[in-house]
Amino acid sequence: MNILIVGSGGREHAMAWRCAQEGHKVFCAPGNPGISQVAECIPLETQTPEHFLQVARLIHADLTIVGPEVPLVAGIVDHFEAHGLRIFGPTAAAAELEGSKAFSKEFMARHGIPTARFQVFDNLEDAKLGLGRFEYPVVLKADGLAAGKGVVIAKTKADAWTALEGLFSGDLVGAAGSRVLIEDFWRGEEVSFIAICDHDTAIALPPTQDHKNIFDNDEGPNTGGMGAYCDDRILSQEQKDEILENVILRTLRGMASEGKPFRGFLYAGLMMTPDGVKVLEFNVRLGDPETQALLLRIEAGFVDTILAATEHRLPSAHLQLSTGATACVVMAAHGYPGKVRTGDRISGIENSGEAMVFHAGTKFEDGELKTAGGRVLGVTAGGATLQEALNRAYRGLGSIHFDGMQFRRDIGQKGLKRYTN
Ligand code: GLY
Repeated sequence: MNILIVGSGGREHAMAWRCAQEGHKVFCAPGNPGISQVAECIPLETQTPEHFLQVARLIHADLTIVGPEVPLVAGIVDHFEAHGLRIFGPTAAAAELEGSKAFSKEFMARHGIPTARFQVFDNLEDAKLGLGRFEYPVVLKADGLAAGKGVVIAKTKADAWTALEGLFSGDLVGAAGSRVLIEDFWRGEEVSFIAICDHDTAIALPPTQDHKNIFDNDEGPNTGGMGAYCDDRILSQEQKDEILENVILRTLRGMASEGKPFRGFLYAGLMMTPDGVKVLEFNVRLGDPETQALLLRIEAGFVDTILAATEHRLPSAHLQLSTGATACVVMAAHGYPGKVRTGDRISGIENSGEAMVFHAGTKFEDGELKTAGGRVLGVTAGGATLQEALNRAYRGLGSIHFDGMQFRRDIGQKGLKRYTN
């Protein structure tokens, strides 16, 4: 089967690798140098749904799988389906679950999906007044897509005012901040729960845990994710069943009842609080770097399961998973998550041993591999235990070098503590 992957990051590298492992001919638009080792990359200057459609036609794609949220919100699925091409992902209407935080939270409230108390504001003055109804720390969220930069946790009223001013003025995340949500802050551990969905059915993938802050011990500013691990024991079977029923399936039923049936990867970003599970946010795609860890656990059936979802026969699909655990450690460029320096030469990937190295922000220039973005590589490995997976990933990472590289040394530590206590 000819498969087109849309996107260019570590998540898309992992998807392209998995599809190639399952014997398919894989293309990726626009792709990256790592992806070009397992797929044919098709560079694209402009990335509208129509441009991707032209690529899909050119390569005679039997199936297109979309990585990032931007093309989904822009309607790539609607466009492909209108032209009779098979694509896996939600329509633009269903992608609103991620495209608008206000829609998403109001949807959760309408359907009894557990989430933190919140209020939506359209202007700075009302938002400043509204702060009085919340305690500190408080969560401030831009309504629109903000590439992981739209959430601020303000510890004081002064911090909250500064963040609100930055959001409403457009300085922080542009137009995405023209509406802002204020939410209660909940302490607890974050878990990423992702399911392959088709209208009213879902297959849950194993739980993963991301590490959003740039520095060890969850310190420093938020990033897109500095590493993730996948281990069934992140959640008990009872918790998994409860989340599948009360979050995923309830969302699918709710979306269908509102005339926006959902097909695609549904990613519930969860906070495990003393008050039970709360949904922090929905994403309408696979997570990055969660995917790198997740797909290393799939032994067979990834493409067949997606295909089954596009043919309304998801319950008949069989996804075969390995036992044990996997871990992905992200290597980021100098300056990330602020102003990123690019063009640093990357060496040593060929010596990374048992680890798989998924490329994100890399480029070939003058015959050399160089950094080209904030998150550069995702060094990923599996093992019989989480400790073994982490050992292999960090050993692999030890052979890789680029000037200014940053990585966390504590990926998976919460998991290790949980299992040995
Ligand atoms: N790892 C967080 C995300 O993909 O949104």
